[in-house]
Amino acid sequence: MSKVLVLNASPRRDGNSSTMAHAAAEGVRAAGHEVGFVHLADHVQGLLRDCRTCRSRDDGTCTIGDGYESLLRKRLIPADGLIIATPLYWYGMSGALKTFFDRLFCYTSGSAPDSDTIVGGLTGKRVALLIACEESYRGATIGLVTQFQELTRYLHQELVGVAVGIGNSRGEVRSDPGNPLGHATDLGRRLFEARVTDYRIDTQRSNRVWDSPAMP
Ligand SMILES: Cc1cc2nc3c(=O)[nH]c(=O)nc-3n(C[C@H](O)[C@H](O)[C@H](O)COP(=O)(O)O)c2cc1C
Repeated sequence: MSKVLVLNASPRRDGNSSTMAHAAAEGVRAAGHEVGFVHLADHVQGLLRDCRTCRSRDDGTCTIGDGYESLLRKRLIPADGLIIATPLYWYGMSGALKTFFDRLFCYTSGSAPDSDTIVGGLTGKRVALLIACEESYRGATIGLVTQFQELTRYLHQELVGVAVGIGNSRGEVRSDPGNPLGHATDLGRRLFEARVTDYRIDTQRSNRVWDSPAMP
């Protein structure tokens, strides 16, 4: 049994990102894994500051006094998989989610007290991204998907998949005929099984991808 943290990065607790996040959590549970659900707004209130003036002088720890550190140490690091749901804001992630990533710096930079432990605890996770947005234009989500591709690469994590739900008013993604909730559930169910490949020209491999027989 693996542990998965599902993170809703919208300020709306009952909005579209949250609806998709719950659908993904259902899939994780159906696959027999342990799931924890977090509303990011409950844990992250402060923006990243200048660490030089912000860190405690005695032990060099971060002094931003919200729930970020406990989210990081007690919920994120122990998880084997991470499912992040965000509304699309200005063609990118929500401000809260950007702050969540910015503040990793307080714990991973060389001058942070136990940065090696934190860095080691961030790597190797399987990640899925859920995006709720109003526009169905394909280009609307491209920047955010690319950012996730890069930040998961940087963190030695594997981006397993992305589900996009179209909707604007609360819970409207349920009416999206593209079935984003089904997609989110499937991503949750297959988080640890989905095939993720990243070949180079000289990668040794079979000419077949799947075990099943080829169609005639
Ligand atoms: C500040 C803000 C910026 C937004 N920017 C975009 C955008 O660039 N593209 C888009 O398609 N929708 C945009 N939207 C709409 C939301 O992405 C959409 O309503 C989404 O379903 C909200 O998800 P939530 O219910 O989880 O908060 C924006 C909404 C807000 C409040």
